[in-house]
Amino acid sequence: MTLLVTGGAGFIGSNFVLDWLAQSEEPVVNLDALTYAGNLGNLAALRGDPRHVFVHGDIGDRPLLDRLLAEHRPRAILHFAAESHVDRSIHGPGAFIKTNVEGTFTLLEAARAHWTALDGDAKAAFRFHHVSTDEVYGSLVPGAPAFTETHPYEPNSPYSASKAASDHLVRAWHHTYGLPVLTTNCSNNYGPYHFPEKLIPLMIVNALAGKPLPIYGDGQQVRDWLYVGDHCSAIRAVLARGRVGETYNVGGWNEQANRDIVQRICALLDELRPSAAGPYARLITHVTDRPGHDRRYAIDARKIERELGWRPAETFETGIRKTVRWYLDHADWVATVQSGGYRDWLATNYSAR
Ligand code: NAD
Ligand code: DAU
Repeated sequence: MTLLVTGGAGFIGSNFVLDWLAQSEEPVVNLDALTYAGNLGNLAALRGDPRHVFVHGDIGDRPLLDRLLAEHRPRAILHFAAESHVDRSIHGPGAFIKTNVEGTFTLLEAARAHWTALDGDAKAAFRFHHVSTDEVYGSLVPGAPAFTETHPYEPNSPYSASKAASDHLVRAWHHTYGLPVLTTNCSNNYGPYHFPEKLIPLMIVNALAGKPLPIYGDGQQVRDWLYVGDHCSAIRAVLARGRVGETYNVGGWNEQANRDIVQRICALLDELRPSAAGPYARLITHVTDRPGHDRRYAIDARKIERELGWRPAETFETGIRKTVRWYLDHADWVATVQSGGYRDWLATNYSAR
């Protein structure tokens, strides 16, 4: 029994691999292209562990996929690999189409060939688990009911459009070919190993460096924040007990405006690492909004609770405190990911705002 994980050197994928191997003896083959977002340092705790086989490669490389599937005969593919940052998709959508759409297509085709050739119990047990996002549903007006699994798809950014396209491919490969798929659409994650281009880790590392905390527009945009460990446990539940062909929305029951998130981070830093220059909130700066910025996401996670008994274990208070502490305790990790490429991205995204 083996799992093939794609994108397992990224934020959520590496948390998943670490969580999985902390609880199971089942090995993981981890295929990751190590883009700017992939970091083998996230997996340093697994160095020398024979249960973790890292393969540096692209999900768009069909011969590589065929070889890995033939060699390791995984019972499931967990597909995390993606270009995942909305702002980068605005500056350069091509990579999102290449990985999220074409890459998912190639992976589905390789999975289909592998699954078709299986027989008996192995064929019945095989799963293709697609890890997706709530952004495919588009934006909600204040007070509108949260996204259920039947909410219409209305993606608004190149990123969310590419993820929506991948969701549709996964659905079609089940409907047409019978590939046993599972899809999870999750809200905003936060936690350890989160690359500091996204809101929460960017605010923590900027605050600690005494740099401005750039809030887009009025900062009243609402997201539903989920601690990454809870996302991992939801994926484990769906993989184990989810109904084939179904989608499950995953969220934290934790809608908050960006301004409140940033204020909370500042208050935690004031408590845990006070600055001689004064409260961290002094660094908050409102900058030009993100084009096409979705105003509100909210997840109705009742289906996964009803069918699989999953609920998040962390509250936002416990999760954000752990997260801030993790960044305070991992200054080396932060310094390593802030490479030349990272600085180039900050200049691209923030200098003209
Ligand atoms: P991430 O950007 O941190 O990591 C993506 C990983 O995929 C990286 O390790 C990267 O090297 C790898 N990768 C990219 N292109 C690849 C390719 N062509 N072949 C192989 N590997 C490749 O992303 P994340 O935040 O960990 O998100 C993981 C998945 O979860 C994505 O599919 C994303 O859409 C989804 N998701 C993310 C969130 C969130 O809040 N971060 C929420 C819901 C869903
Ligand atoms: O909803 C799930 C999605 O959450 C995932 O599918 C994406 O992969 C993930 O990146 C995330 O997308 P968001 O666009 O919501 O996340 P981000 O951290 O980029 O931004 C969160 C909010 O904070 C959003 O409203 C934009 C705002 N923001 C972001 C940055 C980077 C700022 O105000 N300032 C910033 O500098």
